[in-house]
Formats: sequence, C-alpha cells, structure tokens
Amino acid sequence: MNQYIKADPWSIIEEGFSAENQRSSESLFSLGNGKMGQRANFEEQYTGKTLQGSYIAGIYYPDKTRVGWWKNGYPEYFAKVLNSPNYIGIDVVIDSHMLNLFICNVRAFRRELNMKEGYLLRTFEAELPDGKIVRVEAKRLLSIVDTECAAISYSIEAVNFSGTISLLPYIDGAVVNQDSNYDEAFWNVLRMDVHSNEATLLAQTKKLDFQVAFSMRTKVSLDGKLCEDIRPELMKKEAWVGNRMKVQVEQGQTLTIEKYIGVCSSLNYSAETLCAESLKQAKKAEEKGIEKMLTEQASAWAAKWKQSDIQIEGDVAAQQAIRFNIFQLNQTYTGEDARLNVGPKGFTGEKYGGTTYWDTEAYCIPFFLMTAPKDVTRQLLIYRYKHLERAIENAGKLGFTDGAALYPMVTINGEECHNEWEITFEEIHRNGAIAFAIHNYIRHTLDYNYLDQYGLEVLIGIARFWAQRITFSTEKKKYVMLGVTGPNEYENNVNNNWYTSRLACWCMSYANECIGIVKTNTPAAWSRIKAKVNFDEEHEPTKWRTIVENMYYPYNEELGIFLQQDGYMDKEQTLVADLPHSQRPINQHWSWDRILRSCFIKQADTLQGIYLFENEFDTDTIARHFDFYEPRTVHESSLSPCVHSILASRLGRKDKAYEMYLRTSRLDLDDYNNEVGEGCHITSMAGTWMSIVEGFGGKRVYEGRLYLNPIIPEQWQSYTFRITFRGHDIVVTTTQTHTTITQYGNGELQLSIYGKEVIINSGEELKVDNISNR
Ligand code: BGC
Repeated sequence: MNQYIKADPWSIIEEGFSAENQRSSESLFSLGNGKMGQRANFEEQYTGKTLQGSYIAGIYYPDKTRVGWWKNGYPEYFAKVLNSPNYIGIDVVIDSHMLNLFICNVRAFRRELNMKEGYLLRTFEAELPDGKIVRVEAKRLLSIVDTECAAISYSIEAVNFSGTISLLPYIDGAVVNQDSNYDEAFWNVLRMDVHSNEATLLAQTKKLDFQVAFSMRTKVSLDGKLCEDIRPELMKKEAWVGNRMKVQVEQGQTLTIEKYIGVCSSLNYSAETLCAESLKQAKKAEEKGIEKMLTEQASAWAAKWKQSDIQIEGDVAAQQAIRFNIFQLNQTYTGEDARLNVGPKGFTGEKYGGTTYWDTEAYCIPFFLMTAPKDVTRQLLIYRYKHLERAIENAGKLGFTDGAALYPMVTINGEECHNEWEITFEEIHRNGAIAFAIHNYIRHTLDYNYLDQYGLEVLIGIARFWAQRITFSTEKKKYVMLGVTGPNEYENNVNNNWYTSRLACWCMSYANECIGIVKTNTPAAWSRIKAKVNFDEEHEPTKWRTIVENMYYPYNEELGIFLQQDGYMDKEQTLVADLPHSQRPINQHWSWDRILRSCFIKQADTLQGIYLFENEFDTDTIARHFDFYEPRTVHESSLSPCVHSILASRLGRKDKAYEMYLRTSRLDLDDYNNEVGEGCHITSMAGTWMSIVEGFGGKRVYEGRLYLNPIIPEQWQSYTFRITFRGHDIVVTTTQTHTTITQYGNGELQLSIYGKEVIINSGEELKVDNISNR
C-alpha cells in the first residue's frame, strides 16, 4: 500500500514531489476522452523513472507471440495497446540548463486532477543546478467536446533571474512500448511538416497500416502579451518535429506557451486527408482558446456528473474514491463508436494488451447501463455482435462446428490474442458473461429490437458452443463439463466448475426463451435469423433443455454448498487469515505450482455465480456459501472484492461490505497491490460503483421489477446515487435513518422498497424509514 493522495471530494491531489511515486502518479492523474488518453507524463523532460503513455483508441499492434511451448490453436499475435507518438512534449531550457525535475531541487510541487471539470493542473517551483529558480504552472485537457483536440497551457515565471528561456514544443514519433515482445519499434513516421508555430507528424503502425496524424499549433506570450515577433527555429530530426523559440525574460516576468493539439486517425479519415484534418483540429482548438475549451469541458463534465455521480456524506476518502472510479470510466468509454471497448487499464497503461475481456460485460455494462443513455451499452453489445463471425471461427479452430461461437478471452478485433492454454482454451465462462449482458440490457431497457437485430444470433452461437462443450458422463448419468478454468485462475483445468456449468445452462435456457420471444413477437425476424444461422428447430432447443435438466453440479451435502469444482475438498483446507502477511500477495511470493495446489481462491468464483443468480437462493444458502468461500479468497484480482462487498451487503454484514468496498474503491488511489505504476484497474472501477448501487443500495431487477433494499455503512452520514431504468431516472438517498426516492420520467414507476410495492409518480419523492437488517 502507498497512501500519498490527499483526500478531497472532487480532486485527486498530490503535494510534494517524489520521484519514487512518479510512475504511480502518471497512472492516477491520467486523462482521456474516449478517443484518446494520456498518462500524466510531464511536458518538460524528465529523466527519472517514467512510463510514457499516450494511447489512441482502436489503434493497436499485433506483436508476435512469445510462448515457451507452442500449442495448436494459439494465436500468432498479441494485440498490444500502442504507445503513440508523444504530442504533449515541451522542452524548457533556462539559459543553458534543461528543466528536468529529476535533477532540480523541487519545491511546492502540487498536482491536481480536477474531476469535476476534467483537467490536470501542476504547479511547482524548481531550482536549477545554477541556482536559477522558476515557478511553473502547467494545465492540460483532452477535450470531451472536441474529441480530436487537446490543449496545454504552460507558464514559467523567472523568480530570481533575468535570462533566456528556450521553449521547444514538439511531436515525437520515436516512441516504444515497454511491453514489446522483441524490443521492436511499432511506428514508422511517414511525413513531417513544420512551420512557424505549427508542426504535423504522420505516423503509421509497422503492421496493419493504421495511420495517425498529430498536429500542434503554439502561441507564446510574455506577461499576458502575445509575442508576435518571435521567429521560431523550425526543427526536424528523425521522427521528431518541433519549433524552438528563445525569449528574453526579465526577473518576475511570466512566459506562457499554449500548445493546441489535433489528433486524427485512419479509423475515421482516409489516409490522404489525415494531416490536413489533424491540423484543422489543432487550429479549431487554437481559435477557441484554452479558457473556452476549459469552460466547455466543465459543462460537458457537469452533464456526465449529473447522470452518474454518487455523493457520500461524512467520508471524504470514500467520496473521492467513488468519483475517481466514475471519472476514469467515463473518460475511457463514451459509447460513440462500436469498434471501441473498455480495456482493463483503459488509457492508463500498456499492460493487458487487447482491450476487451469479460470485464466489459460482467462489470462495465452494469455501470454504463444505469448511468448513461442506453445506446452506450448497446454499442458495447454491438461490438460483440460484429465479432460473432470471428467467435465462430475461433471455436472452429478448437474443433467446434455448426455455428458454435467461442468469444476470445482477450481481443481487439474479434480474434483471440491470449496465449496460455489454460486460459485461452479453458477459461470459457467469458461466453456466459456476454450472453448475460444481453439479458441485463434487455431487462433494463426493454429494447427487444436488439434481440431481433443482433442479440439472438449471439445467444444461439453461444448456446451451441455450450451444447458441444458439455458431454455426457455414463458413469454419473449426468452432463458434465471437463477441463475448464473458472474465474479463479489459481486453479486450472478443473472438471465441473460450478460457476461455468451453471452459467452455461442459464445461457441455453435463455437462448430458448429468447427464441420464443422473437418467434412470437416478430415472426419475420425469426424466419430471417433461423435461415441465417441454419437453426434446427426440431433438435437444438430440445438438446439444450435436456442438458439443462440433467446437468451435474458438484455439491457438498455436509456443508450444504456447491463446490467450486470436483475435488475442491481434497485440498488442504487452510484460511487466508492463517497466511503470514509476508507471503501476500501469494502470486508474488509462491511458486505457481504451490498456488495451484492450494485451496486459495484468486477471485470470486462460486460467489460470482451466487451473485448472478442470487434470486434463486435463500439468505441462509447465500450465507453458507459466503462463509465458506470468503475466508479462502485472497482477492488478487481487482474484480473480486466488489462481488464480495455486494453479497456482504445482501447479508446485512455492513462491516465486511464496507471493508471490501474500501478495498475495491481505493485499490489504485492507495495502491493496495503495489502495481498502480503500470496503470489503473479501469474495469474493476465499475465494480466499485456496483458495490454501492447493488451492494449498499440493494438495487436488483427481477421479472421486470426494480427492487431497492438500502443499508448504509456506519461511517457515512448519507449517500445518493442516480440510476436510469426503462426511461425513468431514479435518485436514491439513504441516511442513517431513512431513504428518499425521487423519480423523473414518463409517468409512474412501480418498484419494491424493502419488499414493499410502491408507486412513485414522475417528479414525486417517496420517503421510507430504513430497515437495518435485510
Ligand atoms: C483476472 C481476470 C480479468 C483480467 C483482466 C485477471 O487478473 O483474473 O478475471 O479478466 O485480469 O482484468
């Protein structure tokens, strides 16, 4: 753990400069706008430890796979999230010394990520080796209004000297990925143009021919007065283009450079027009000016916050954390482009190449579904629909036939790019999360049209896969699923993982149910789909039903619980509480072999299933499972604590729920796992949101009805969240004594609060006393 972020309700604040924390802060203070993202690297040079990171959504690199023993079915490449040319750089030379915080004496350093208005601000005083002191203020934004624009304002005050300050704003194409498998550079620079106060660089990925143009426009002023007579030196080096401007500055004067950036990619423009388009964007930003861009940014963020903010009274650390999680999610994905998705590190790091994991469906979709217009989630679902062909090919490579679809574990373009057999071939529960997300979308939006147009084909492909993957055991006289890895990656190649089997059966039942719905409601759509997927109406639904009715689930009678998988009880049953602190996290201290043989669970697995299908279990059954699995879970995946928090809330165990909530919500801010320098855990941030809304708030949707069951941690005075459900916006505030619910939308809304049916008219507020134990 590393706690240096100052508590504040709306900002992430670091005070005092620490080179040790630099990589962590670069992750935490990252900016993004759905189309591109930027780690909080400094504009000026920095020679200390840093991870340069600038990412353009949808632009990737198929890095050659590196594995020990090749297995048939492995993908040839791993799609890397690509570090793009550096467009934020501004070198600053004071007389003959380069400003570099690693070698300067730094005072009054402060960095603030203003989440309310969406910008990054850094101020400091630096003493250079020759004793000259400068005071610097650097502000930047990646516009969420003009999503191909960024702007920086960088001011330098000459505190104790008069002299020459050289400014070198540039664009640098000679960048690398730290995680490159063979130390290759991934970019070619195709073209560079430079003029006074202007430069453009066109870069092309060495494979796949993605092209991105970066343009900058600059403006320099001294004490607020534009320096019109500066004649910049036009500079071009290999893969680097910039301007050098020398300005004579008197003591006490402030020199400011504004850098306006345009970034356009071949995802959206034809290659020939890219340079002109990016320059157009840079000019557009320059014409607006940074002040106007900041004002527009603040109102655009205000609109996002109105819909998605959660307010917590009485606990600033918790308030800051939930806003940080919501902010990061909203700056990673905006739902404007169905080719994009939410990567585990978003725009904050390279780790976890690819972008799309089951994290999207299992975690991010519940968040976007309830905090954004429905089309945002629809785009995420369409992303998978567009990859259906590839998922069928992917299953084909593993020997499945007749339209069975296996979605990849990790992907950008629909092709699998993960290559560890026990995960690539066996961690197949991801297919279930994709089907469940369709159900989740429909139950929240009633958009049945999605089923006709896209969803049903996906459900059929997935159900077909399960029907082939599950086999019949003549010994057990039941259907079984052999050789899988559940969400708990600390045990592989197991038989009958309860979560995977249960979810697979649910998928087959749900596919059957949806076929019925489409057939009844839109027969023409059914005829089209049936012909397209060559559906055998006589045999397939029956086969799915037979499997569901005769599936084997490992169960321990004595404990009254479903076992995570066959043989789980053969393991030595020790508890996490017995593990010495010095051996945690076990993945950093134990051999893999020891981990695999232990009973320790990386992340919610059986409990993940209990969470999904909670309405099928009574409270005692949920408690028995929780009491068995929670003490054996080490939570070494960021996706884990939130599910435990939600179930602890369901059981009315406020302390446990709160402990797990803190762990999920401040995972990055307090660096629980000593790894935030690599990037933030963006997808699990949605889990943090879930632990408030579904956990403390007890929000559920079953059979068309919205349920609320709020509890509140002792540490909070109140919390308020807003969700959207079937065209209604619902604001829920829970204090230590009561809950108020306000509904905005068309007409009345019927819901259940603490098990009681109520009707709330639009604009009306309902107040109920809390029932503390569920
Ligand atoms: C987890 C997976 C998850 C992946 C990306 C892994 O550590 O075990 O469940 O999909 O991280 O977040």
